[in-house]
Amino acid sequence: MKPINWHYPRTELARHYLTTVGRGPVSRLVLLGARRIGKTAFLLHDVCAHAVELKFMPVYLNLWENPQAPQEVITETLQRYLTALDDKGIEAVQELLSSEITKLDINFGILHSAVETGSVASVSPASLKKISSLFRKLVSRAGQAGFRPLIVIDEVQHLNTADSFWDIQGTLRTQFDSFPQTCVIFAGSSRGGINAMFNTQESLCGSIIKPMPFFQSAMLIDFPLLDEDFVHHFYALLIAEFALDYPQAELSYVFRKVGESPFWFRMVMAELITLRLHPFAALEIVQERMKLDGDFDGIARQLRPLDVQVYLRLCNNLPVYTQSFFEQAVQLTGRKRVTKSAVQKSVTKLLNKRLLTKAGHSYFNEIPGLPSFLGEE
Ligand SMILES: Nc1ncnc2c1ncn2[C@@H]1O[C@H](COP(=O)(O)OP(=O)(O)OP(=O)(O)O)[C@@H](O)[C@H]1O
Ligand SMILES: [Mg+2]
Repeated sequence: MKPINWHYPRTELARHYLTTVGRGPVSRLVLLGARRIGKTAFLLHDVCAHAVELKFMPVYLNLWENPQAPQEVITETLQRYLTALDDKGIEAVQELLSSEITKLDINFGILHSAVETGSVASVSPASLKKISSLFRKLVSRAGQAGFRPLIVIDEVQHLNTADSFWDIQGTLRTQFDSFPQTCVIFAGSSRGGINAMFNTQESLCGSIIKPMPFFQSAMLIDFPLLDEDFVHHFYALLIAEFALDYPQAELSYVFRKVGESPFWFRMVMAELITLRLHPFAALEIVQERMKLDGDFDGIARQLRPLDVQVYLRLCNNLPVYTQSFFEQAVQLTGRKRVTKSAVQKSVTKLLNKRLLTKAGHSYFNEIPGLPSFLGEE
């Protein structure tokens, strides 16, 4: 029996990013987005797959593969890709990428970082030197084979979770600057962490203020959420492969309710296919899992009613410092009055708890599914 390819391709988007880094004035991009919205799947299935057609040699690095020692992930990965290219050429590189896809499919993209800031050993000068030397080799070999290096770094915010990782950032930045033919696509799942890395000029590293190595070295882009076409892809697969004809509108509703996360939506699909449930019944089961997985009850207990209202407004890009919201919040929370400073306090709390992050003047939800959960409480 042939397996079904569940991946919904985003070829146009991948080509757009590839031409942006390949031809545009910026050769480095950071794709930003909340957890489990399909960044890694997109990088592997779409970006890396099409990169080779455009004469890039993609190298995919996931820094969470060894959170305690990301420098080892970098050296081991560069070495692996170099060996593959030397031994069997670009086809072997493509095989490495396919094995990454298999890994992603097997673990459903679940790879958690267990590192606590500050709990890691320092990065030795020898490993930094090794990164530089392998990188130089890779650029040169790729060039000889007629390819431009495309370094894809997943979970890049991890390099900002410990002071000792700053030197890795510095080494990478120097290499990227020294070999301008190199293109880089980063992905990160913490807007706060990414902002600190790419939008802050200097910061406290241990007890001294140091310049941030990645400051303004890449263009930050919001990774666009999957949309109705994605739902349609699954709707059509259910009909074609399982003779399950659910109304697309119901599936779209479910997709919105799981925070437009393909990860959770695929869990709903699994329930539909195995148990043949109504989509809303499958949604309930999956929402229960989301609740446990994200400790939604625990989060809810720490929030006051005003925090919840402010969170829901900001998730929907609605202003919170308006008289009309203050009045509405009085109705919704039962408080005697709601003032600007009370709202400010809620915003600060939501940012500190990393439920939201701020970029420019906009706020972004970091926890898919939490708005639905809190909105229905
Ligand atoms: N385009 C897609 N088509 C079908 N399924 C997808 C797609 N994108 C993601 N998925 C499913 O969602 C899962 C999670 O996606 P992925 O790991 O890419 O998310 P992520 O944004 O990288 O999450 P994290 O921030 O946790 O790393 C994938 O393993 C896959 O099952
Ligand atoms: Mg990922």
